[in-house]
Amino acid sequence: MGGALGQGDGRLTDAYLDVQDVGKRFRETRVLEGLGLSVRPGEFISLLGPSGCGKTTLLRIIAGLLPADRGRITLDGVDITRVPAHKRRIGVVFQSYALFPHLTVAENVAFGLKARRTPAADVASAVSRSLALVRLSELADRSIFALSGGQQQRIAVARALAVRPKLLLLDEPLSALDRKLRETMRMELRHLLRDLDITAIFVTHDQDEALVMSDRIAVMNAGRIEQFDTPTAVYTAPATPFVLDFVGMSTRLRGTVVGASDGELAIDTAVGRIRARGCVPHGGAVVVAVRPENLRLGPARGGENAVDLKVRDPVFLGSKLILHFHAAEGDSAVAELPAAAAQQVAPGDNVTVSWDIESVGLFVLHCGVVGCRGHLVQRGRDVLPASGHLAQLDGKAVEREAGPWRQVRLSAHMVRDRVQGHGKVSGGSGHDFVIRQNARIGEIAHADGRGAAA
Ligand SMILES: Nc1ncnc2c1ncn2[C@@H]1O[C@H](COP(=O)(O)OP(=O)(O)OP(=O)(O)O)[C@@H](O)[C@H]1O
Ligand SMILES: [Mg+2]
Repeated sequence: MGGALGQGDGRLTDAYLDVQDVGKRFRETRVLEGLGLSVRPGEFISLLGPSGCGKTTLLRIIAGLLPADRGRITLDGVDITRVPAHKRRIGVVFQSYALFPHLTVAENVAFGLKARRTPAADVASAVSRSLALVRLSELADRSIFALSGGQQQRIAVARALAVRPKLLLLDEPLSALDRKLRETMRMELRHLLRDLDITAIFVTHDQDEALVMSDRIAVMNAGRIEQFDTPTAVYTAPATPFVLDFVGMSTRLRGTVVGASDGELAIDTAVGRIRARGCVPHGGAVVVAVRPENLRLGPARGGENAVDLKVRDPVFLGSKLILHFHAAEGDSAVAELPAAAAQQVAPGDNVTVSWDIESVGLFVLHCGVVGCRGHLVQRGRDVLPASGHLAQLDGKAVEREAGPWRQVRLSAHMVRDRVQGHGKVSGGSGHDFVIRQNARIGEIAHADGRGAAA
């Protein structure tokens, strides 16, 4: 893919679509917060996030269907922030398809062109071209009522493509389809858009869909983008605990750093002492995460961790076996094994599980904030501040440079405000936090021990 990266904030110098610092409130509810998204020409981007995180709102703002409170959007070098929707040349496919029931298939596809006062001959050729693209030319004169869900979905895509959009926005276009059809349509849509070399933003809350379809995935949480990267990077190197949890399964063990040498940490967890690569100060609260395919049954070999776990639930999935283990509250342990392993294990068995400490799937997340009764690691995905807020906090904070770490004192009410502002945690008292410079969500690393967790 290539493309020059801007200064550290993920902005591209050669962006085709550039969404900068967009914010949106609905009355007192802040829905988008200083959001940026830089997309290359021809890219297929997924916005992946839980219900209510602001995906549709962002799409509507890009399409011009909703004004942002602040921020700037450029498309193909033109500032479109104040350009009305019908002049943006952006095609939109809505979740409900929003087809007009009183019009035929062809009239639906022609709708955007007629609204733009396109000459009749051009409308006719554009309609037949678009219907051919989605392989439904023979349905041109049908009523919308006489279409299956999959056909309606394709007509909605044809309608959006008919205006030769500079950008295509798709809001959960497959969610109304049954699973089998959805999987077929996924690849069909992907191939079509790739062949047409169209830049597209695809909204979904289905991680599999995002992983198989996208050039890059923007993982959204509570009005912010927590990570914007390739599917492989999002899966193998999640930037925050939220991304780790939202995309794929993992073994997650909370622990405390009790020693470090040569970049290797000794970490005490509920299932014993393990080792991990990382740079976290002594006493730091961390979460160690291992993807299930990186666990194996059997004792440690050189360079591996091994822990004893009790089997809770083996789930047979045809080609593989997913083993869930009993874990301490707030932790989880899950392994993906070859199906044949089903012969070896039963619920209640105690087994030794090991993994390579260098394994690509091993993550140390510098996210442990000791302070709010030790629960912030778990809840951190909801409450840790974004960089914007950090700067604000920094402004009020006492700072001390310490290598790559910056010590920031947050007063009790500042912590509580941040936390309670999200309605998640009611406790919290004043502590010293060590925050990595330019920390993003999830990178608050460590309390220095003063007044630390109860
Ligand atoms: N017109 C509106 N007035 C008030 N609040 C709104 C409005 N539109 C959206 N919201 C709120 O903004 C938040 C984000 O909504 P949005 O539709 O963008 O979420 P989403 O990520 O698309 O969710 P879903 O996956 O359920 O479609 C939600 O809390 C929603 O209730
Ligand atoms: Mg939505």
